[in-house]
Amino acid sequence: MAGEKSRGIGPQIWRRTPVTVKKARSSRIAGFYRLTMEERLKAVRSFAGLTEEEAQAIVRGAPPREKLDHLVENVIGTIGIPLGIATNFLINGKDYLVPMATDESSVIAGASNGARMARVKGGFKATSSEPLMAATIQIGTTRDAKRIRKIVDENKKELLRLANTRSSTLSRMGAGAKDIQLHEVEGFYGRLAIARLLVDVRDAMGANIVNTMAEFIAPQIEKMTGETVYLKVIDNYAVERTAKASCVVDSNTLGGERVLDRFLQGYSCACHDVHRACGHNKGVMNGVTAVVLATGNDTRAVESACHAYAARSGTYRPLPVWEKNQDGDLIGELEIPVPVGIVGGLTKNHPAASACIKILGVQSAREFGEVLASVGLASKLAAERALADEGIQQGHMSLHATNVAMTAGAQGDEIARVAKAMIREKEISMKSAAEKLTAIRRG
Ligand code: MEV
Repeated sequence: MAGEKSRGIGPQIWRRTPVTVKKARSSRIAGFYRLTMEERLKAVRSFAGLTEEEAQAIVRGAPPREKLDHLVENVIGTIGIPLGIATNFLINGKDYLVPMATDESSVIAGASNGARMARVKGGFKATSSEPLMAATIQIGTTRDAKRIRKIVDENKKELLRLANTRSSTLSRMGAGAKDIQLHEVEGFYGRLAIARLLVDVRDAMGANIVNTMAEFIAPQIEKMTGETVYLKVIDNYAVERTAKASCVVDSNTLGGERVLDRFLQGYSCACHDVHRACGHNKGVMNGVTAVVLATGNDTRAVESACHAYAARSGTYRPLPVWEKNQDGDLIGELEIPVPVGIVGGLTKNHPAASACIKILGVQSAREFGEVLASVGLASKLAAERALADEGIQQGHMSLHATNVAMTAGAQGDEIARVAKAMIREKEISMKSAAEKLTAIRRG
């Protein structure tokens, strides 16, 4: 049987028949979970055209030692997080296999399942804004913000020119610093004038260049205004750089009218209770963060931006919007800030992360953002559907049982046998795993 020699963990419990992977560029690879790790990698290699070196970078996971020692301080090693592939994604008519790095079982299966449900009615439609990032430049403690606004407005052209001297690459592309906007807030020590420097960062995440530009023009702003400039740093609230995904989910595919009604009841709860809103958004971020991590992007930047965005009305709310349409189907829409890049930073110095970007096959940071919004929506769709129907424990149980079996010392074939026996008896615990293992070994 395919994959007998080298088994991955978990999914082979349900191994039924050997699966042949077609070479077509469809992300709908039925039975992908039943393959061995090696077979899955082979299928992904053929889908994405990975070289042997790129495939090996994925198997290794960690960057080469000489790079590793320079990525952060005081390095002593790496810690492995499983990297899996979500299948079934169809976004704007294009098929994607989505690399996801996560330590949580059911997240990759959930995203694949959500994408499969959305696919029935055409997959995801996604759009994105221009890739604008911003810096906060905090100007003085002043009661005279109007004067500051006037000075910055009058000198805007020169300030933008100065900022753009910091990146000839962006300038050549017609990108770079585009605008400076002023707003005022009441601070602890008086009124503050805050300038936001907006920069079109194209395919980079942009933190470095935005910080560099802000620090470069700050002394000039001090000179012009006669005020002190305090903070000058990237504004993580990337509201100018968002992506939106939507999908229609056939009500029968979802599980029928009863499940759809319960789904919308659950959403209503999330809209009116911040406790549930937080969990609802965790279900979105399970998918988004896993892709951000797999591609070597900044998970903290994306998460802080998304949660702030969820509270943009003044109340923390669910990020997606779910409704029933006239045909009785479910429609979902998710808009999130997407401060991510496909060039620079770790994306360049981490061979496995670069290979993940190649697997995604995105041509721009904007397209990447659209994939992230779609993955967030798919993840939440699957989680909320489970909550509206059988609950989430059933899905978690099999992988959980596998983990418990391994912790109890099961090896090779024993893992699946112990897990299966615990699921059958509905008793998943270390004690039960140890007993089953002993019985198996006794024969
Ligand atoms: C678990 O990681 C995520 C969920 O709790 C999300 C949710 O509650 O909607 C299932």
